[in-house]
Amino acid sequence: MSNAIIEVKQLSKQFKSNVAVNNVNFNIRKGDIFGLIGPNGAGKSTLLKMIGGLIYPSSGEIHLFDHTMRENHPYFERMGLLIEEAGIFPHYSAYKNLDLIAISYGIKNRKKHIEQLLELVGLDKSNKTKVKNYSMGMKQRLGIAMALIGSPDVLILDEPINGLDPQGISEIRQLILELNKTGITLIISSHILEELSKVATTYAILHHGKIIEIISKEELLLQCEDRIELEVDDPKMTVLILENHLGIQRYKVIDDHTIYVYETDIETQQIIQSLAENKIFVHSIAKHKQSLEQYFLERTGSSGGADD
Ligand SMILES: Nc1ncnc2c1ncn2[C@@H]1O[C@H](COP(=O)(O)OP(=O)(O)O)[C@@H](O)[C@H]1O
Ligand SMILES: [Mg+2]
Repeated sequence: MSNAIIEVKQLSKQFKSNVAVNNVNFNIRKGDIFGLIGPNGAGKSTLLKMIGGLIYPSSGEIHLFDHTMRENHPYFERMGLLIEEAGIFPHYSAYKNLDLIAISYGIKNRKKHIEQLLELVGLDKSNKTKVKNYSMGMKQRLGIAMALIGSPDVLILDEPINGLDPQGISEIRQLILELNKTGITLIISSHILEELSKVATTYAILHHGKIIEIISKEELLLQCEDRIELEVDDPKMTVLILENHLGIQRYKVIDDHTIYVYETDIETQQIIQSLAENKIFVHSIAKHKQSLEQYFLERTGSSGGADD
């Protein structure tokens, strides 16, 4: 047994000559919020559809709950999906939309299950309004409720924040965190890293069908935290001076010459002076600032939202 709830191994999908997903590998642990980030056309929806069992891989494997997935495997039922357009009937109420799915799934105690889901996603159970009159945010929350019918262990949400206003974005983020607290593992895609930056525990950056980086939330935040980059000859001595003379606690020795200092309220001049007094020559010192979006663009070389 591994502690991964989902394992994707050498997964590829080819549409004629177009390789939409190219030899992708990753693991998702139970309780993760796995953020799949990539510009439009990167292959996010195709990858999520394969994991959700909606389309079949050209090659590679998906292991779900430690079982290799084959066509129509019952374990696919332990996943809830909201990929591209949710199949919402616009002329029915939210309740009725959910009831139709619950009937088709053979859910017992449908009324209770549906009322609980409506409450969970923040929709009024007695609201008879036709869904066509709902806001984008309400429709999106209904889509999530639809994916939650049958109480899945894993929820796959493809760009759930796309097109929402700031209020809607914040509500969906809140909902994602609440669902995760109940023990649900989530896979969420976005073409904007910033959008998922407050929720995901792990990020995979997908570009032209390939995973180019998998990074934990902690590592990503550290990468994008303001820092002073220092190049010196003697990092060991330098660290002693940083700590003892300047009281700096948060730093990281990167290699034989480079130290990152994460306490940026200190003046670079002060560091240079202290080191010079102790006969340490500073080759270079620079303040480094990088937003999450710059980090993403540097890796994908494209603006995620530009070709919407
Ligand atoms: N059903 C399909 N038939 C042919 N090509 C497809 C199909 N679905 C997706 N593609 C192609 O695969 C690539 C990845 O698409 P997609 O997975 O939708 O990317 P994303 O969701 O990241 O925007 C694109 O080049 C797209 O045109
Ligand atoms: Mg897509």
